[in-house]
Amino acid sequence: MENIDLLYHARGESKFIDDLRLPSDALYAAIFYSSTGHGRILSLDLRDALLMPGVKAILTSKDIPGENQIGGVIADETLLAEDEVHYAGQPIALVVAESPECARKAVKKIKVLFDELPVVLDPREAFRKGSFIIPPRIFSMGNTSLAWDNCLVIVEGRAETGAQEHLYLETQGSVAYPTDSGSLKVTSSTQAPTAVQRAVSRVTGLPMNKIEVEASRLGGGFGGKEDQANSFAAMAALSALKLNRPVKLVLSRQEDLRITGKRHPYSSDFKLGLDSEGRILAYEVTFYQNAGASADLSPAILDRTLFHCTNSYFVPNVKATAYSLRTNLPPMTAFRGFGAPQGMFAIESAIFKAAEKMGVEPSYLQEKNLLKEGDAFPYGQSAEGCRAKESWLAALETFETGEIKNRIEKFNRENQFFKKGFAFMPICFGISFTNASMNQAGALVHIYSDGSIGISTAAVEMGQGVNMKLRQIASAIFQVSLDKIKIEPANTTRVANTSPTAASAAADLNGKALEKACNELLERLLNAAALKLKTEDKPVIINEEILLKEEKTGLKWEDLVKMAFDERMDLTSHAHHITPGIYFDKLLNQGRPFNYHVYGTGVVEVTLDCLRGTYTVDSLKAIHDSGKPLNPLIDRGQAEGAAIQGLGWLTMEEIAYASKGPLLSDSLSAYKVPDVYFSPGELDIRFLKASDNPRGIFNSKAIGEPPFMYAIGVFFALYNAIKEFRPEVRMDFTAPLTNERLLLALYSKEKNTVTA
Ligand code: MTE
Ligand code: HPA
Ligand code: MOS
Repeated sequence: MENIDLLYHARGESKFIDDLRLPSDALYAAIFYSSTGHGRILSLDLRDALLMPGVKAILTSKDIPGENQIGGVIADETLLAEDEVHYAGQPIALVVAESPECARKAVKKIKVLFDELPVVLDPREAFRKGSFIIPPRIFSMGNTSLAWDNCLVIVEGRAETGAQEHLYLETQGSVAYPTDSGSLKVTSSTQAPTAVQRAVSRVTGLPMNKIEVEASRLGGGFGGKEDQANSFAAMAALSALKLNRPVKLVLSRQEDLRITGKRHPYSSDFKLGLDSEGRILAYEVTFYQNAGASADLSPAILDRTLFHCTNSYFVPNVKATAYSLRTNLPPMTAFRGFGAPQGMFAIESAIFKAAEKMGVEPSYLQEKNLLKEGDAFPYGQSAEGCRAKESWLAALETFETGEIKNRIEKFNRENQFFKKGFAFMPICFGISFTNASMNQAGALVHIYSDGSIGISTAAVEMGQGVNMKLRQIASAIFQVSLDKIKIEPANTTRVANTSPTAASAAADLNGKALEKACNELLERLLNAAALKLKTEDKPVIINEEILLKEEKTGLKWEDLVKMAFDERMDLTSHAHHITPGIYFDKLLNQGRPFNYHVYGTGVVEVTLDCLRGTYTVDSLKAIHDSGKPLNPLIDRGQAEGAAIQGLGWLTMEEIAYASKGPLLSDSLSAYKVPDVYFSPGELDIRFLKASDNPRGIFNSKAIGEPPFMYAIGVFFALYNAIKEFRPEVRMDFTAPLTNERLLLALYSKEKNTVTA
């Protein structure tokens, strides 16, 4: 059941964009981008660059035959800047040359003069200036104003979370080839081939049928290539069309770090009210989303923040307000969790603060308020098949958390300068694109005359193992071995009008489409078998053999396929799947946006060195509800990877910008992500037993994003460890909790709130 790609990856045989062997006439593009966060372009001097031997052309916005526009949700983003730049890293011109080295050297010779304009990097400042990407979004349930009077405890505060770099191993890139009759073939490291096709069409002015987009495999996307692969593919396509030669554009790591957007930083205000028993009665929260210079996917991400603002808790009175704010940073974009982690961090901060005030453990409040079957979410949907409590209790029991706590208490009594901290982190994550129309997928299945099978869907393999899951589905339906099944690269000419591979839903959506296409073919084949066997009964296939009434017929899969072919039967089928029963009213903010929810409970233990401000994450454990996992090995890998990625976001990954906007943390010596040494000593994510999910493919649940949020527990475990050393400390809820912030929390002279 292991992912076959692993073999090719390990041997270095997998081909990523930069590995593609190009025709000898291929050219290479490099991007000239803004060095300032905001400015009017006074002059752009290309002369020296154009004189360089090997330089074939330098393209600017004036060379765009179609629209200079790549904004998918809102038309507010140019491909190449016209007369103003809005962030450092914004593409201004494209150098096309005989080699990538030559193109980059020429980029350095381009001279630009800016009239510098005021730079805004902070979302609250953008709010004060009224720089909204979209009008405010408000979700509400019950009546918070009436509820405060009934609260015994009310806490207010602020939660801050930082940006996060995707750091996919493969940087953004694309190769565009001019083909016959004025068409283009574009290979792109994209999660969204159709989005690339649309963007290329818009920029080149070619209709979509003249643009074939293929995504073979990605060296990671993590959301960073849901929308932001579009521009680089459009740049390669534009260059290829202009020069009528294949053009490759692959970003260097530093270019990628500087040009592309990250996870949205959020600044949030919360107010939480509870009764004497710790029941949450009311929650008000305001999110200030730092969207960067253009909308990108920010509105959808803002919505997912609102959808997840109460995490896995039932809150009867909620008012959640969200602002998407335009700043002079690169457009922020999708990143694993898609806004939910930011929303969940805020309510966890509020609960932590309330627990401090009430003198109880946060876990007491967490457990008390977990969603129960039938409880309403603030957006109208109710919790069905709710496994919040079940996973919580399973975590208590499986990991013997009582004993962990005793051990930690003893350790903390016996040690002065090392302190341990502990935290629970329950999660609840809605599965479906929150934009209902995106919940569709297609599958195209060919059975070849030798019995082998080729499958195309909308799914893009980016390391998450979706190809393996699709093979398993086809193998289970046809009852043929995995090695007879090949998954083709996602290609817009085979499966058109596709949604991105995102929202953790690729295996669900494409798997269901595939199931339908396979069942259709199976039906045809079994009818043919019945005819051949001259029976009214329905034969079945088991292990590539055709059985009738549980008896072998001697007919094998290959024979059946050959026979069907000779009978001139159509051995191809296409199917389309839409998620049934989901809808959402964007004016009332009510509906049933999610197909189902994923639940789970994480427990985290840390040890803090209170002299140095360094620490280890001793363990991150979780009971995770994955339904009946399609592939437990892949799902465990996804859960572990997601949790460690979350760990980075909350602890060490700190993005810094200069005051005028340029990225300071623009190399891997300045931007640290978790490595194997930083990973939890014990990483133990188990699946909730006896789970199922009738709404998922083969009873499984989506896995890609939800476990990211277990890592939020690390922040609070560290906070607890700090309090063991310095009980009176009241920290800000500011992530990432870097070593510097930890040291300040441990030693800063300020009495009350420590702001790092
Ligand atoms: N796993 C790997 N190895 N590489 C990735 O880029 N992306 C994540 C997750 N797991 C990613 C990954 C994100 S953001 C999403 S939405 C899902 O995979 C998408 O794939 P799925 O829908 O097949 O789960
Ligand atoms: N999740 C991920 N990607 C998306 C979504 C979503 O809900 N909506 C649009 N793109
Ligand atoms: Mo994932 S952030 O939905 O690509």
